[in-house]
Amino acid sequence: MVKQHSLQSFVQSLLRILMGEPHVPPLLKGNELLNIILRRRSVRSFADREIPDDVFAAILEAGRLAPSTVNLQTWTFAVFTAEAWRETFGSSIPFKGRRAVIVMGDTHRVRQVLDVFPYSPLVEYTVAVMNASLAAMNMNIAAEALGISSVMLSETGRGGFLDSGYLKEKLGLPDGVFPLMMIVFGYARGLYPPMPPKLPLDQICFQGKYKEANGTIMQDWLAQMVAGYKASHPLSSFDAQLRLYLSKIGPAEADLRTKVFH
Ligand SMILES: Cc1cc2nc3c(=O)[nH]c(=O)nc-3n(C[C@H](O)[C@H](O)[C@H](O)COP(=O)(O)O)c2cc1C
Repeated sequence: MVKQHSLQSFVQSLLRILMGEPHVPPLLKGNELLNIILRRRSVRSFADREIPDDVFAAILEAGRLAPSTVNLQTWTFAVFTAEAWRETFGSSIPFKGRRAVIVMGDTHRVRQVLDVFPYSPLVEYTVAVMNASLAAMNMNIAAEALGISSVMLSETGRGGFLDSGYLKEKLGLPDGVFPLMMIVFGYARGLYPPMPPKLPLDQICFQGKYKEANGTIMQDWLAQMVAGYKASHPLSSFDAQLRLYLSKIGPAEADLRTKVFH
């Protein structure tokens, strides 16, 4: 249960969010790639405008060329147009995106020719998650560079977290291929959302030994998270969202244990 905040604290937190800016040294302000990375936002409202095939292909190419452990490329992408998504899942892509990619960790493919981790399933799993996540981020940044916005989602619109058992069946996934996230792509509708509250650099970096975060700064961050959520979802609350999220975790864990890693 998250602590309730006063109206004054709510307003202050919202102002802090609205004033949030990436820190860029003046000399680097014109750096195009840096700006693309720092200005990227998760976008959840897309215009009714198609993404050309060659532009989408360039986004996938950025995923294909991502770095990976020993260049094992332990990922697989299920790719969808809006029509293909509807045919497969019987619904629109979430937020009316125009294209979608379900990014999966894949420890299956390379085993055809090379069994690198025969006695290290946890390492193999971690490596696959890590590499597939890097490929996902490469696609996300490439999209942004091409004027296309995106959001990564832990679900496919059915309401479950990861939906791994369902997707295994639906997409005919062999053992060792497991969904991690979907990425929704499209041209943003309207303004970009403000930068959500990001922890300050001195709370996430340390030199020498691990440094505990400052409690006041963490409380302040949480207050901003709560206020930001309320402002964008007036009929709900961060607390309600957290409870909903937690209710999905148990079934997702059971799904992974019984249907994906068994
Ligand atoms: C693996 C992953 C899963 C996510 N799942 C969801 C999701 O299910 N629903 C959602 O609205 N946003 C989801 N997000 C987006 C995050 O909420 C978002 O990245 C975060 O609030 C920070 O905002 P920013 O991306 O604009 O910096 C996900 C992001 C990641 C990386």
